[in-house]
Amino acid sequence: RKPVSLPRLADMHARGEKITMLTAYDATFAAVADQAGVDTILVGDSLGMVCQGRHSTVGVSLEHMRYHTECVARGVRRVQGTAWVVADLPFGSYQESREQALRNATVLMEAGAHMVKLEGGGWTAPTVEFLVARGIPVCGHLGLTPQTVHALGGYRVQGRAEADAQRLRQEALELADAGATLLVLEMVPATLARQLTGEMPHCATIGIGAGQGTAGQVLVLHDMLGMNLGRMPRFVRNFMEGQNSIQAAMAAYVQAVKQGQFPEDAVHGW
Ligand code: KIV
Ligand code: NA
Repeated sequence: RKPVSLPRLADMHARGEKITMLTAYDATFAAVADQAGVDTILVGDSLGMVCQGRHSTVGVSLEHMRYHTECVARGVRRVQGTAWVVADLPFGSYQESREQALRNATVLMEAGAHMVKLEGGGWTAPTVEFLVARGIPVCGHLGLTPQTVHALGGYRVQGRAEADAQRLRQEALELADAGATLLVLEMVPATLARQLTGEMPHCATIGIGAGQGTAGQVLVLHDMLGMNLGRMPRFVRNFMEGQNSIQAAMAAYVQAVKQGQFPEDAVHGW
């Protein structure tokens, strides 16, 4: 397999081949995910929950993200892997100014990321443009944005009311205009996610709890392995069921997404 690149992701989006994304936080899981055929590995700040035992991602620092990004990048390199590595800019590391965002994105890129992800719309568009112009690929993240859970009032579906859907659509188009080439849509109605995906030929949507109409799917590693300590979100499927290894579970996830068998709108949607 050839390494996954921006042109390759754009090509997959254009051809309608579903893009698979899975989180990983250390070298071994990253290497196994790569071997299972996962296209993109997200070093998510969800590590605050699954690795650090926090209740939210708010307390995750840039140094935490740098460390885990380095571990994941090493794991992929060690197996001469092909996965595209995305790293989350944590809360507080990009909100202050475009310059702050560039400085901190540089830290994650130097740690081995191929792309950084940041949450939110509107005010983030000039930041995305600033990073992209300076050679840093950017993934946006709209809908339920966990870093702002306290402002959102909890982990709940976003964009259900007509006015919220309009705003989300506006923000997505602005991010795509600014040069974001991937966009995570978390917990938004399937119809909205599908419509947006069709409207953005140069920005591939990656859904989580957003139905099957997106250009790709992402899940948190521990969730899809059935290792959730809290309540399992409705949009998750336990891919360990019926498998005898973690790599097989990951491969089953890849296959289910590629074949349009995950998610099922009726079970994993809103
Ligand atoms: O941190 C994370 O794992 C994420 C995904 C849920 C998209 O941002
Ligand atoms: Na995240």
